[in-house]
Amino acid sequence: MVPALENFAAMRPTYPVTELLGDGIGAELSRAVHHLAEALPIQLDFRPVDFRLENRRARGQTVYDEAVEAITATGVGLKYPTTTAEESPNAVLRRRLDLAVIHRPVYTIPGVPTNFRRELDLDIVRIATGGTYDDPGRMIGEDGAVSLRIVERRPVSEAARYAFSLARKTDKKVTSSSKYTIQKATDGLFERVTREVAEQFPEVPHAVELFDALLGKLIMAPEKFQIVLVLNEYGDFLSDMACGLAGSLGIGASANLAFDPAAVVRVALFDAAHGTAPDIAGKNLANPTAIFLALSMLLYQVGEIAAGQAVKHATLDLLREGVRTRDLGGEESTESFTAAVAAEVARRLAPPPRPQP
Ligand code: NAI
Repeated sequence: MVPALENFAAMRPTYPVTELLGDGIGAELSRAVHHLAEALPIQLDFRPVDFRLENRRARGQTVYDEAVEAITATGVGLKYPTTTAEESPNAVLRRRLDLAVIHRPVYTIPGVPTNFRRELDLDIVRIATGGTYDDPGRMIGEDGAVSLRIVERRPVSEAARYAFSLARKTDKKVTSSSKYTIQKATDGLFERVTREVAEQFPEVPHAVELFDALLGKLIMAPEKFQIVLVLNEYGDFLSDMACGLAGSLGIGASANLAFDPAAVVRVALFDAAHGTAPDIAGKNLANPTAIFLALSMLLYQVGEIAAGQAVKHATLDLLREGVRTRDLGGEESTESFTAAVAAEVARRLAPPPRPQP
């Protein structure tokens, strides 16, 4: 029996998504995301948590408890920018949810001015704990200092599994990078664990580069690199360098990831790199590009690769054609840009017309 047309909507695959509502332009961005989600052939069942400053101040830790519970239940979350006041909500969430790995795609965004003339399209997967960052170090006498560098099997294996799974889903190559020839114990362990994980993904190409060489090669031949897997401090340096090359420090998105004991993603929280933009809040001027890119990553994470690709490429292609908000020199408002992206996404994901009998 053919189901009635109105039942098709109910038949769309449904994914629950926690939405952490933020400050400033957060409300406009959330409306834009909902509008775009309507254009998808799947259903995103948004579960909002009021993460605005007034509510965080009024309810204190209980807001964080609610957010942690909601994200743990849904597995994926989208976070809008929040004002950093008494605490950094991002830091609290990272600690409470044990978000040990950061995935930061960095690519050329049409309309964003850059000094770099080559196209960049890189996925940086960074182990966000350990390295030299967990130990502030100590003085030895007046003129010497020492600090510990910590590398542990568990987060390396989690990050590596994530990088190789992403590569498998998207047909990409993984490059792991470190200074294993000098930092033999720490970086040696990192490369060893990465190789063990790589063996479980025989169809995914894996290359190893020394980190200093990687930086040079990335500038000379960026097209040779796709997914780059790195330890904490290398990832920190590399993300900023790549963002600088792409000219897009503010128009990017990232995934913050926590894992279960089998190193499978337990929780993935996606956010835009920019802040709450209080100067343009409520004026229909906010550029939703970064939050759309965050949404695209969320779609990849739940396995909706075609939808994720459509959101990313429709957004970037429209920017390339000059359909841009004012911050990028265009004429569009948040709403008109969103409508254009939603229409383009719907067009790209529409089923092909049935052949006429
Ligand atoms: P910001 O990124 O909010 O703003 C810097 C400039 O970029 C402003 O001129 C703003 O109008 C513009 N801008 C930012 N996002 C935009 C967008 N989507 N569309 C168009 N223009 C945009 O950085 P700022 O001013 O340093 O911080 C404001 C607040 O945001 C602070 O309370 C800060 O703590 C918070 N913040 C929150 C972050 C997060 O929740 N992930 C990240 C960075 C800052």
